[in-house]
Amino acid sequence: MKANFDEKRYISEREFDAHMAIVKDWTNSFIRDTGEAPTYYIRTFGCQQNDRDSELAAGILEKMGFRPGASPEASDVVLFNTCSVRANADNRFYGHLGSLKPIQKGERPLIGVFGCMMEQDIHVNAVKRTFNYVDFILGAGAARVLPYAISQTLLSDGAKRNTIDLTDWRGLGDDTSLPVWRADPHRALVTIMTGCNNFCSYCIVPYTRGREQSRSYEMIVEESRRAVERGAKEIMLLGQNVNSYGNDLRRRGKVDAPTFAKLLREISRIEGLWVVRYMTSHPKDLSDDLIEVISRESRVESHIHLPLQSGSDRVLRRMNRRYDSAHYLDLVRKLRSARDGIAITTDLIVGFPEETEEDFEATLRVMEEAQFDAAFTFLYSPRVGTPAADWYDESQQEIVRERFKCLVEYQNECSLASNKKLEGQVVEVLVDGMSRRDETILSGRTHDDRLVNFPGLLMSSFTCQEWSSNEVFVPHEVNRGDVVQVLIESAGMYSLEARQIQND
Ligand code: SAH
Ligand code: SF4
Ligand code: F3S
Repeated sequence: MKANFDEKRYISEREFDAHMAIVKDWTNSFIRDTGEAPTYYIRTFGCQQNDRDSELAAGILEKMGFRPGASPEASDVVLFNTCSVRANADNRFYGHLGSLKPIQKGERPLIGVFGCMMEQDIHVNAVKRTFNYVDFILGAGAARVLPYAISQTLLSDGAKRNTIDLTDWRGLGDDTSLPVWRADPHRALVTIMTGCNNFCSYCIVPYTRGREQSRSYEMIVEESRRAVERGAKEIMLLGQNVNSYGNDLRRRGKVDAPTFAKLLREISRIEGLWVVRYMTSHPKDLSDDLIEVISRESRVESHIHLPLQSGSDRVLRRMNRRYDSAHYLDLVRKLRSARDGIAITTDLIVGFPEETEEDFEATLRVMEEAQFDAAFTFLYSPRVGTPAADWYDESQQEIVRERFKCLVEYQNECSLASNKKLEGQVVEVLVDGMSRRDETILSGRTHDDRLVNFPGLLMSSFTCQEWSSNEVFVPHEVNRGDVVQVLIESAGMYSLEARQIQND
């Protein structure tokens, strides 16, 4: 594990500007020489926290004169934003990084790696040793350090470039001054806090992201307002445990620091917003005040993601989750009676060390009672440096896989039953864009966060001739970020098929 995350050095405003200027000079001469702007490509792994950090990194690159590239191979700067939450996240990153090796010859791109994996010595050392064509390494949430890293790389001797290790530097917790390049203009990811204090015994996040640090209330509201003024219909408030928002400020003496419930209410009242989402909620901190806001404020999503992890009280204790199954089910009951039709989704871990058949059955029982509308199910993955990794017994793998299969099958039934309830209903959908597989299908999400596909074309993607009434299908005028009404025709386990019934 790296030295304490919270003791890292900050890049000052002045240093940030100075390094930006160096890189900007370089991009200007690149444009003079080639007639084109240099390009960047960012591959992001992991959670929305990382998505948001990549949006900041993209904003900074844009400001320095870079433009998006079509692929890693065709870009001048390639960045990997890594995640370490489970072993498959680590492995995917190494696979992608390895595949860049062939393009390092000649005019190779500048390659940088940042994010949660780079908070762990074993990965930092592995990158330096095995992938020495990586130019620089930064830690988690370190977008602000990017100009420094790129300027150092440009100034270093091109032929013998060694990997520059800047993992001792970090960005400020409150990076409001940074430019953001939003992947979806209609959806604003807004970080409300970073880090985590919970130390669930299986989880790496507290080690990679440091302690909880809340952003200022005013800055969050201001950023959200600005995003809505510029066309955002959805705000997604982000934190590893949004319910403990403000606790760090209160501990430091700001006794009247606003709670998450107050913040959520304020954001939900921004004029022009369609929905405010938030994640993740921790069952031990979900307050009655928050349930009240969920029940009263119609723009607060009709959905909550509330990770259960396990239904066995014995396992929950060993996970250090600090709630039991009775408390969890009590919350489910309160939420369902507070907001009619609220969708409740969860995370479940199968095969936590020393999980018994009885523990597993307890999880199934809680699932039966809670009737989750959807669930992310994970096989336990030992993470070096966490307490549970020392208790791991590999010989259990086969039995754990059986349990996993059984749990997924049961949840699939529940997800389908939940989606089926919408068949024949007219619902509103916020359009995200074209489906990846078919250009004539649009996809979007309902207020309760279900994925909906329906035939349609984006305004920007067809010409006037295509408006002929002889067409079998006459498309409605739809843009990304529009809210449209659709009739749900059929339900699947993971999505709904629909037909648009009215222009918005
Ligand atoms: N802060 C959030 C989510 C953190 S990571 C929360 O507490 O809910 C997202 C999910 O990954 C977790 O909810 C958990 O289900 C899963 N996860 C985390 N560490 C894991 C591990 N070592 N093995 C398997 N799943 C893990
Ligand atoms: Fe990990 Fe637990 Fe913190 Fe979530 S609350 S990030 S699972 S330590
Ligand atoms: Fe992964 Fe870090 Fe998020 S470990 S889940 S990217 S906080």
